[in-house]
Amino acid sequence: MAHSAATGRSIPIISPAEGVSEELIRQLVETFYGRAIRDPELGPIFHAKLSGRWSQHLALMVDFWSSIALRTGRYQGKPQAAHFGLDLTPEMFTRWLTLFEKTAQEVCEPDVAAFFVDRARRIAESLQIGLGIGPKALRLP
Ligand code: HEM
Repeated sequence: MAHSAATGRSIPIISPAEGVSEELIRQLVETFYGRAIRDPELGPIFHAKLSGRWSQHLALMVDFWSSIALRTGRYQGKPQAAHFGLDLTPEMFTRWLTLFEKTAQEVCEPDVAAFFVDRARRIAESLQIGLGIGPKALRLP
């Protein structure tokens, strides 16, 4: 664990070879989105947007996490743009993160789960800033 002076948070550092594999990422993604799509709050958003191309979304999300955790560079998309127009709220992000954290803790070893959760929280924060929502959104006086 390393401590970040900027955020005051402890950021878990893992090297890709330690405990993360493509198979683990696939399992994490499939379990998480399997739950997200059945979630009363989040499910309808995924159904509305991704019906008919769910398996492509899962493959893209495996690439996304593989790029982050294993530095494979397979994901080259624009996550900010993909979340515009979905009317997302801070409460939905909290729900997403709760589900993701629970899944990561079930599927991964503790250090690896902490790594994924830390990255997900930071990305969720920046997505919300980009959408102009949540506690860190810029507000003009
Ligand atoms: C309220 C929470 C969230 C909801 C409801 C949500 C929903 C969605 C939906 C519906 C799409 C598909 C957009 C499309 O293809 O038209 C998408 C794409 C994506 N989401 Fe989320 N998302 C949420 C949070 C997050 C978070 C926290 C992350 C990252 C940690 C994330 C990462 C991505 C990525 C990488 C894509 C693919 C973007 C691309 O097409 O390149 N999402 N999300």
